[in-house]
Amino acid sequence: MKHSKYSIVIIGSGAAGLYLALSAQRKCRTKDGILVLTKSGLDECNSALAQGGIVSVMPEINPRDNVTSHIMDTIKAGCGLNDFNIVKFISENSSCVINDLIDLGVEFDKKEDGSLSFTLEAAHSMPRILHAGGDYTGRVIEDRLAHLVKKSDSIEVYENSMAVELLCDNKKACRGVLIYNPALDTYEAVYSNAVILATGGIGQVYEYTTNPVVATADGIALASLAGAEVSDMEFVQFHPTALSASALGEKPKNMPLVSEAVRGEGAKLLNADKKPFMEKYHPKAELAPRDVVARAIFNEMETAQSRNVFLDITPIGLERFKKRFPAITNICNEANIDLSTGLIPVSPAAHYFMGGVKVNFNMETTIENLYAIGEVSRTGLHGANRLASNSLLECVVCAYKLADVLSQRNLDAPKSFDSGVKATLEMYEGNFANEILETGILRRMLKKAMWQNAGIVRTKDGLNNALRVIEDIKLISKHSRVYSTQEGYELRNSIIAAQLITEAALSRENSIGAHFREDAQELPKNISDIKTASMLRM
Ligand code: FAD
Ligand code: SIN
Repeated sequence: MKHSKYSIVIIGSGAAGLYLALSAQRKCRTKDGILVLTKSGLDECNSALAQGGIVSVMPEINPRDNVTSHIMDTIKAGCGLNDFNIVKFISENSSCVINDLIDLGVEFDKKEDGSLSFTLEAAHSMPRILHAGGDYTGRVIEDRLAHLVKKSDSIEVYENSMAVELLCDNKKACRGVLIYNPALDTYEAVYSNAVILATGGIGQVYEYTTNPVVATADGIALASLAGAEVSDMEFVQFHPTALSASALGEKPKNMPLVSEAVRGEGAKLLNADKKPFMEKYHPKAELAPRDVVARAIFNEMETAQSRNVFLDITPIGLERFKKRFPAITNICNEANIDLSTGLIPVSPAAHYFMGGVKVNFNMETTIENLYAIGEVSRTGLHGANRLASNSLLECVVCAYKLADVLSQRNLDAPKSFDSGVKATLEMYEGNFANEILETGILRRMLKKAMWQNAGIVRTKDGLNNALRVIEDIKLISKHSRVYSTQEGYELRNSIIAAQLITEAALSRENSIGAHFREDAQELPKNISDIKTASMLRM
């Protein structure tokens, strides 16, 4: 086994991981360098797929907007389960960090007069979302950050390298990470006193998802195997409008997104009979919070026994649509959808994870030397549901903050390891790898069970069914820690996350935000208003 050491090890190359690497390079003393590890290619991640944009609270150039309004919208969407202080912190730092991205060369779209173009998305009280390349926002940000990381002398990148275990000592402090290289079937132990989880989301735990194949909940599994606290695990966000699997022929590995910004620009939802329906579910109709729209669509599909509803883009106009949404236009062309009919078939899909590895204001997990940023973390920003385009903002503001925190530490202290670390390494050096031939079948079983039982609408019986399937899969896969393939590790990680999500969903017996229990006692209707009001008084 190879052994190496770095001042900082970042697991994940999405917006959070790459922006942290660049910020740490500028702010920290890193004699042993910075390592960015990534499971696939540098840009295969949720970040690169982001369409709608990034929240940018910039009252100095967007005078109708202000921090209080963004805080209110975020807490309303999160049904008051948000942590007020982190919401305030992220909102207040938005302008400074977005300006830093612009200084780094990220080109956001501008209006004809040369000023930044702010758009509107559901549940925002005003246009405050910056976008880039039309609806290629994530791609533009990711490409720029990746370009700068590749150019840097102090940042090393390992592609196609999967973190499979955190190396913790006898005092439970993190001392590094164990990497698996599937092409060579080899392991490498990397020692560092600052290990950062930036591993993104969990979408691939579900049958239908907008997330790419790398989103197998690895960070959640690594943290919980090491004993770190996770939180808010019941809160999975289902995006209302992914391009329906019914339009995609063979079952896709992930479903392309049809951005919420399309509704922000005026598109309407129609049911299988081509009739509008959102007004009967919420006064804000198409611009209601995401969970409300997702459940409304789910309900319409159940009622009509249809596989999708439609997004009617005629109010936007075809030419304007193509100009504003080039990525979605390409996605539709590839799926042979004739946009001149004005109708795009859409259905909900698992999209974003509000829960995650619990961190404090310094992005520290409950394990010493282990930090988490981006979608894998649970900062408290989102509460029970995330407001659109708050995620990219959280990635970059928290990365920026963590770089400040790391700049205060002596990262070049000797990288020690004891018998605790050695014992973990011995597990992997031994010949105990679990070879499972049925990985694909077991993954499909798990994903289906989670979609059907721990998805948009949940019941106690359904959640118990999911737990039974999870137990069966553990039995068949001889659930162990060490595997002989990347797919084996991904199955291990997805099982761990699925169990945590399902157990949390079982124990929260009420419905709130993205967690909807059909068998729940109704909460008072104005619960979110009550909580919002009380939090804003703090
Ligand atoms: P990611 O960008 O997902 O990166 C995770 C990285 O970790 C990947 O590089 C992955 O390969 C790596 N990794 C995972 N496990 C391991 C491992 N074991 N070892 C090594 N590497 C590992 N949010 C917005 O704010 N605005 C939007 O418009 C928007 N649109 C979206 C559209 C789509 C289709 C999707 C899927 C999400 C969208 N989101 C949006 C959400 C947002 O994109 C993500 O929450 C955010 O990009 C997450 O960034 P991240 O850096 O935390 O993780
Ligand atoms: C979208 O463009 O609809 C996704 C935005 C988000 O997930 O924040």
